[in-house]
Amino acid sequence: MNRIGFIGSGNMAFAMAGAIYNNDPTRKMGAFDIDPQRVDLFSKSFSSLTPYSSVFELEQSSEIIILAVKPQTIDDVLSQLKDSKKIIVSIAAGITLKYLENKLPEAYIVRVMPNTPSLVGEMAAGVSFSRDVTDMQKKAVLDFLAFSGIALEVDDSYMDAVTGLSGSGPAFVARIIDSFVKAGVAQGLDYKTAKNLTIQTFLGTASLLLEKNMDLEELIKMVSSPGGTTIAGRSVLENSSMEKIVLDTVTAATIRSKELGAR
Ligand SMILES: NC(=O)c1ccc[n+]([C@@H]2O[C@H](COP(=O)([O-])OP(=O)(O)OC[C@H]3O[C@@H](n4cnc5c(N)ncnc54)[C@H](OP(=O)(O)O)[C@@H]3O)[C@@H](O)[C@H]2O)c1
Repeated sequence: MNRIGFIGSGNMAFAMAGAIYNNDPTRKMGAFDIDPQRVDLFSKSFSSLTPYSSVFELEQSSEIIILAVKPQTIDDVLSQLKDSKKIIVSIAAGITLKYLENKLPEAYIVRVMPNTPSLVGEMAAGVSFSRDVTDMQKKAVLDFLAFSGIALEVDDSYMDAVTGLSGSGPAFVARIIDSFVKAGVAQGLDYKTAKNLTIQTFLGTASLLLEKNMDLEELIKMVSSPGGTTIAGRSVLENSSMEKIVLDTVTAATIRSKELGAR
């Protein structure tokens, strides 16, 4: 089985390594970070992980290399990997496949845009592959990404949209959940009860849609009895500018992703 090596042992790398370890505790992993204490934390947390003290050592010992450093520091790492012929998976926001291909001409490049629910194995990620990545290499990458959640293949040109939708999405969803909690409190519920009811409602709705493969309109219809409470609420929500606000939110995040990626 291919060894997966992390360059940059921060929050996202920890979440991904944790997901791999929980699903397959024998899967060989490696980690390097400029801060040795971070690597220590990884080797203490995952018994299948080997600590490395340089990018070079990690590159030599890994078949799949995950670049999990901040976009601002990625150039330094890319220059150390310029002759690598390995599978290199970048999770750095805004760094395009084309940019990576130019910096790593010999490597097989994969770009992933994960999101924070990967911390609990519920990631929603976009993934794009360089043209020369083989089907077997794709499978190897998709197999370990599946431990963290779902990863859907998109053309690299859509990665800013993925960033605006699912990358930044957890913050938008948390903000909307907060509005529901406040609305529950306004109706007299205590904060804790309102929060728990709201979060479970979001979770339950999402699970229902996923597990029953239910159409959104079908679910809306299912809850809306004629003359009932849901119809009363929907008439307010659906006559508001909610849809436009969400559109503008995701658009702003997508535009910002494009700006940040321009290099
Ligand atoms: N967090 C998210 O929700 C999220 C979502 C999607 C994508 N991402 C992407 O994931 C990547 C990692 O994010 P993160 O939140 O995990 O960041 P992070 O916690 O700051 O982790 C990055 C780690 O890399 C280390 N590092 C910096 N320069 C290095 C170098 N030259 N060689 C080796 N290690 C180096 C950092 O050390 P120092 O702290 O000492 O600099 C830090 O420990 C980013 O590119 C980000 O765009 C994050």
